[in-house]
Amino acid sequence: MTGMTGAELARQLVKNSDNMVIGFDNFFASSIDSIRDIIDRDNLRFFEYDINDERQLSSIKDLIIANKTKFDRIVYVNCAAVVHTEHFYDVEHTFMTNVVSMRAFLHQAIDVGADIFINCSTSEVYSMQSWNEHGGVKETDFLLLATAEHSQRTSYAVGKLLTEFFMKDAVDKNRIKGCSIRFANVYSEHERFAKHIIPHIISSLQQDGSVTLLENSKKNKRSFLHNIDSCRSVLALINNEEALDGSVYNVATDEEISIIDLVGLVASKLNVQNPVIIYDGYRASDPERRILNTDKIKQRTGWSPIVTLSEGLDLCVKYLSK
Ligand SMILES: NC(=O)c1ccc[n+]([C@@H]2O[C@H](COP(=O)([O-])OP(=O)(O)OC[C@H]3O[C@@H](n4cnc5c(N)ncnc54)[C@H](O)[C@@H]3O)[C@@H](O)[C@H]2O)c1
Repeated sequence: MTGMTGAELARQLVKNSDNMVIGFDNFFASSIDSIRDIIDRDNLRFFEYDINDERQLSSIKDLIIANKTKFDRIVYVNCAAVVHTEHFYDVEHTFMTNVVSMRAFLHQAIDVGADIFINCSTSEVYSMQSWNEHGGVKETDFLLLATAEHSQRTSYAVGKLLTEFFMKDAVDKNRIKGCSIRFANVYSEHERFAKHIIPHIISSLQQDGSVTLLENSKKNKRSFLHNIDSCRSVLALINNEEALDGSVYNVATDEEISIIDLVGLVASKLNVQNPVIIYDGYRASDPERRILNTDKIKQRTGWSPIVTLSEGLDLCVKYLSK
């Protein structure tokens, strides 16, 4: 819950005293800092738990059962995952947390009689066909996956893809309502480590006006989704029951930018003149572009992003400079 989407979701939900938020995180890639402003709220219960620990998960289950009758709806959101690119190659760990424990968490939601399960998947599932000339890849597009012949990296995407099948199966069998969300490149001023590209560029340029990028960055373009908007998409789906048909929703912005231009934009916000880019390393099976068609979630829920890249970067620069 202390990750980017989970922390913002908790922040939005505890504002309403009719809601109770129960969350956990093992701080694998986040810290308590991201929810420090809400940790003392009466309607928030947070635990330093590991989703892979059966005993800890079972105590979450007991807590939900004990409080169940006080609330109109029980909603599970699966935000705990091994996410950062450097871990994508750690097949065993990623599979355990992202697939085995997602499935256990879904089964728990069904066992306690929860109404809704939101499964956070990823735009990485589009793998080598992550864009087209017609305004982005759609949820219904067939996939062209890099495999173990090319890169272990795709194991993350394939694991997340499998979770989409668990989600669909549970809804088709009327066990719960829910859906999967394919997010693209979420960022936040609350990222703890400079692992993702935006905090990496900001912290590198702040240090000495230079940044080291992979060779891929000479060509790569991406869009970036602020965690306020990833969180808003979860809330939009939770509040549109007819959208919770077990299917998949792309969630991204249309603001595509090359990584080189991103360095220039961040440099201008930091007042760094002539930033130096050093290229080192190459990542196999990394698509040059990733453009998602988001018509489906827009049409079904009215969601659309509200934080522009420039505004989001301003927030990151301000927060990270503190
Ligand atoms: N960040 C992105 O660019 C991105 C892109 C596509 C999909 N997603 C998906 O969105 C969801 C939310 O991710 P996020 O963007 O908030 O990333 P994040 O890394 O900020 O959050 C993931 C959280 O999971 C926690 N975690 C990892 N292993 C755990 C474990 N064993 N037990 C308990 N907690 C554990 C981490 O500590 C972290 O706080 C994830 O399912 C992720 O796969 C994220």
